[in-house]
Amino acid sequence: MENVGPMLDPTRDPFGKYNGKEAGYVLRMLSGEDAGGGRSWTQALEEKFCEKVGAQYAIACNSGTSGLHAAMYAAGVGPGDEVIGPGLTVVMDSYAAVHLGGVPVFADVIAGTHAIDPKDIKRKITPRTKAIITVSLQGLPVDIDPIMEIARQHKLIVVDDSAQTLMGRYKGKVAGTQAHIGVYSFENKKHMTCGSEGGMIVSDDADLATRARKFAGIGYRHMTATAGRTHLAMSTVQDPDYLRFDTIGLNYRMNEVSAAVGLAQLERIEATVARRRKVAAMFLEAVAGCSWMVPQTVSADVVHSYYTFAVDYRGLDSRGVAWKDFYNRYLAKGGDGFYGACKNPYLEPAFRGKEYAGYRLEPGLCPVAEALQKRIMQFKTNYRDLDEARGKTRILAALIDEIGR
Ligand SMILES: Cc1ncc(COP(=O)(O)O)c(C=O)c1O
Repeated sequence: MENVGPMLDPTRDPFGKYNGKEAGYVLRMLSGEDAGGGRSWTQALEEKFCEKVGAQYAIACNSGTSGLHAAMYAAGVGPGDEVIGPGLTVVMDSYAAVHLGGVPVFADVIAGTHAIDPKDIKRKITPRTKAIITVSLQGLPVDIDPIMEIARQHKLIVVDDSAQTLMGRYKGKVAGTQAHIGVYSFENKKHMTCGSEGGMIVSDDADLATRARKFAGIGYRHMTATAGRTHLAMSTVQDPDYLRFDTIGLNYRMNEVSAAVGLAQLERIEATVARRRKVAAMFLEAVAGCSWMVPQTVSADVVHSYYTFAVDYRGLDSRGVAWKDFYNRYLAKGGDGFYGACKNPYLEPAFRGKEYAGYRLEPGLCPVAEALQKRIMQFKTNYRDLDEARGKTRILAALIDEIGR
């Protein structure tokens, strides 16, 4: 073996993105070892995920986007079915509905939490509504109970996109597990990654989990909520009359190398999330007492997992400093670049001006979300070095003081 020594030394960089365990698991996988007890690395990742988040079933897939697609399929979304989602999120939530022939319908958000507003969900429900997709943005779990109640009354399925919210908590439970289906992403910048891409679908409903697994696994007939692999006798399968497929699916399966990386990441997820929370606490201190940088409202019901530290920037109205001017001044002082919120999905060129079953995607669908989108600032929380994070948040505090807190 060539030059893998330092890579396998977890003391080399205990807070590194990869600390040696990932490489160790990958090498074991590539040497032909299973993950213990005859389990594949994917099965081990799924089982560990169930244990960590407290879900009955978990289905590993190759991205959050593919997970959302499979979840929407499991929810029964088909041609002409409306799926209500927030006006402030990434486009992938709408892609999932549209790829199944569904109609993406947008509900406005609550300015304080940036999350979908249950009151507007109610207004948007029609006889063609099939599902609701909630999105827990930046690590802040959505207030899911009122939405589950609306869904119960109207017999709708709720998919909670928790891509940004791994290990956030809602009323004590891990966010994403209280909806009918939850979806997580392991893309490179998320709380944990499988090397660069990956996702997970969770559900406590065996039927929904089976449908999602089949869709994400090319539609094999033998698949169940818990297992992707066949345990059938070879003599049964090695038969020209054996029928394999009963669902028109796609191949969204996670590969074993990704699963080995993900398992190592998942095993220390609490420490990773705790570090992001520490960084967020520094940012909170930096903006304390500033009326024009308003962090997300965090109710007593939730624990924020701080994928980013997001504020509603009111500096233009309050102090005459535009978003981009603030950005440039922060950078000039030695701060890090930060992101703005993604454009409202229906205003992205992929959707803007399109019409689905008479529902036209155009400006004005969600006024609160459209105004908020222009103001949000998203500061990174994944600093490996807490001293560096402290330095950046001090620079932020100094700039706020300079402008006038
Ligand atoms: C809220 C949200 N949903 C869905 C996704 C899609 O996940 P992925 O990039 O793994 O496909 C992402 C991240 O990229 C996300 O932030």
